[in-house]
Amino acid sequence: MDQPRAAGIFVTGTDTGVGKTVVSRALIAAFRRAGMKVGAMKPIETGVGEAGPLDAIALREAAGVKDPLETVCPQQFALPAAPNVAARAEDREVDLDSIDAAYERITKGRDLTIVEGAGGLLVPIRDEMTMAELGRRLGLPLLVVARASLGTINHTALTLDVAASKNLSVLGVVISHANAELSPADAANLQGLKEILGDRLLGEIPPLTPGEPAPADAIDLDALTQRLDALSELI
Ligand SMILES: Nc1ncnc2c1ncn2[C@@H]1O[C@H](COP(=O)(O)OP(=O)(O)OP(=O)(O)O)[C@@H](O)[C@H]1O
Ligand SMILES: [Mg+2]
Repeated sequence: MDQPRAAGIFVTGTDTGVGKTVVSRALIAAFRRAGMKVGAMKPIETGVGEAGPLDAIALREAAGVKDPLETVCPQQFALPAAPNVAARAEDREVDLDSIDAAYERITKGRDLTIVEGAGGLLVPIRDEMTMAELGRRLGLPLLVVARASLGTINHTALTLDVAASKNLSVLGVVISHANAELSPADAANLQGLKEILGDRLLGEIPPLTPGEPAPADAIDLDALTQRLDALSELI
């Protein structure tokens, strides 16, 4: 594995809309409860309207920090599409230098930084560059967020396969229950995913009502921290 180099976690997902922001907030809250100074970043956000970059705003609020939004989210685009597509729609391209500079500012003085990707690992962010390469560029191990409902076994396996093929370290998987009710088929399928994952499963966020924080024990912070520590020993 050729990273990490910094204290942080790159939160990726099996897809867009699977719960990356929900899980990132839960992680930030959990590490803060453990007494850590936590930075938060959403390097690229698309679908940004007048209300601003909503994921970045949510992460910054969870972290309780005052970093400018342009630092938390240095690359913002209006079209709710993959970053490279949204950038092109504005005759722009994703500016990696601005992400590097913002990351440097955010990590300064912080024990850990939670970075939320956009979409999944193979989402294009520039010509011939995907979100996976951004995780590598920042030198961060991945945490994969998976949905609970049908399709998740395939999406999760694909994501873990891509991470392995690109030599990216994966800390584990967290399942987020965006749907209150699982059908019997969904529930059986989810059990199948858990069996496949074994100890790679690091947590499960139950269905939350809007604004409700995740339960403190939803993510196994001890196991996650142990894996982070094991990686940093390799640096
Ligand atoms: N455990 C949960 N309980 C209730 N709602 C959830 C849960 N997980 C996700 N959701 C809901 O599903 C939707 C998508 O979640 P979220 O915004 O965290 O996904 P995302 O992967 O960050 O999406 P994006 O790709 O847009 O960044 C949101 O409306 C969120 O509130
Ligand atoms: Mg999000």
